[in-house]
Amino acid sequence: MEIKFMSTLLLCLLWMSAASSPLQPDHHKARRFSGGANESVTVTINLQQSVSTIGPHFVGVTIDSRRVWERWDSLDFTSKKVQNMARALTPTYFRLGGTMADAMTYVLGSATDLPESTVALNHSKFNMTEDQWVTVNEFSRTVGWDFIMDLNALKRNADGSWNPDNARQLLQFSADRNYTIAGFELGNEYESYQSVFNTTLSPGQLSKDMVTLQSLLAEFPQYYSAFIVGPESGDGDPAHFRG
Ligand SMILES: *[C@@H]1O[C@H](CO)[C@@H](O)[C@H](O)[C@H]1NC(C)=O
Ligand SMILES: *[C@@H]1O[C@H](CO)[C@@H](O)[C@H](O)[C@H]1NC(C)=O
Ligand SMILES: *[C@@H]1O[C@H](CO)[C@@H](O)[C@H](O)[C@H]1NC(C)=O
Ligand SMILES: *[C@@H]1O[C@H](CO)[C@@H](O)[C@H](O)[C@H]1NC(C)=O
Ligand SMILES: *[C@@H]1O[C@H](CO)[C@@H](O)[C@H](O)[C@H]1NC(C)=O
Repeated sequence: MEIKFMSTLLLCLLWMSAASSPLQPDHHKARRFSGGANESVTVTINLQQSVSTIGPHFVGVTIDSRRVWERWDSLDFTSKKVQNMARALTPTYFRLGGTMADAMTYVLGSATDLPESTVALNHSKFNMTEDQWVTVNEFSRTVGWDFIMDLNALKRNADGSWNPDNARQLLQFSADRNYTIAGFELGNEYESYQSVFNTTLSPGQLSKDMVTLQSLLAEFPQYYSAFIVGPESGDGDPAHFRG
């Protein structure tokens, strides 16, 4: 996420709340416009009744995992301005994720060298340091965002199954510090694995990996009831939705 985007979003929200009240008493409004096929259509909007109500967490923010690789680029988590704008968006889900989540190793405290099983074709593998993890969690806690972590799905055992060892180190470290993590993802946009990482992840294997992730979360009272979101898709590839 760019902060530019965040302030634009904030303006949009302010604009929406200003523009949407109060509801006009003439509840049925009809407008005429020309459709794509030169066909005139009438749209009627009933402002008296809603079809459904969305929850308070309707705003979501992602900071791309690429920013970890870039050592946050120009993003300054300690800036009061950034923190105030972020706080104004609550309640909101905040996801650290994206393509490079699947190339990221977590190097924490006394962690020793880890077996590297990630195949990175277009992206080099990289480490997220303990400092970076602390920064992102402290920020999330300070501004009251509900954090979702996208875990590296390409940490693989020789038999192709997901290897949760590095994720376990991350969770142990986080549990020791009482970090609240609302939810977890496993990997990002599986349909692009071939072009980006020269590998594939079948829906069948992924569902087994999700069970492994669930067992991993169950090892930690703090994360036992965290939710798991997925499957991840950038283009709506139906394979992983049938899995
Ligand atoms: C709409 O009508 C115009 C003028 O008759 C025509 O040039 C255009 O191709 C039409 N567009 C579509 C999408 O049918
Ligand atoms: C990641 O950290 C490990 C362990 O500290 C180190 O051996 C490795 O060189 C690091 N990799 C990169 C790409 O910095
Ligand atoms: C975490 O929470 C426990 C129980 O509330 C508390 O005893 C402990 O000191 C906390 N640890 C840290 C690092 O904040
Ligand atoms: C990855 O690199 C290959 C070879 O250079 C290229 O054909 C492919 O488009 C790249 N994929 C992405 C997602 O950038
Ligand atoms: C992609 O993976 C295949 C099979 O594992 C391997 O033969 C090939 O060299 C890899 N391609 C690249 C560009 O790494």
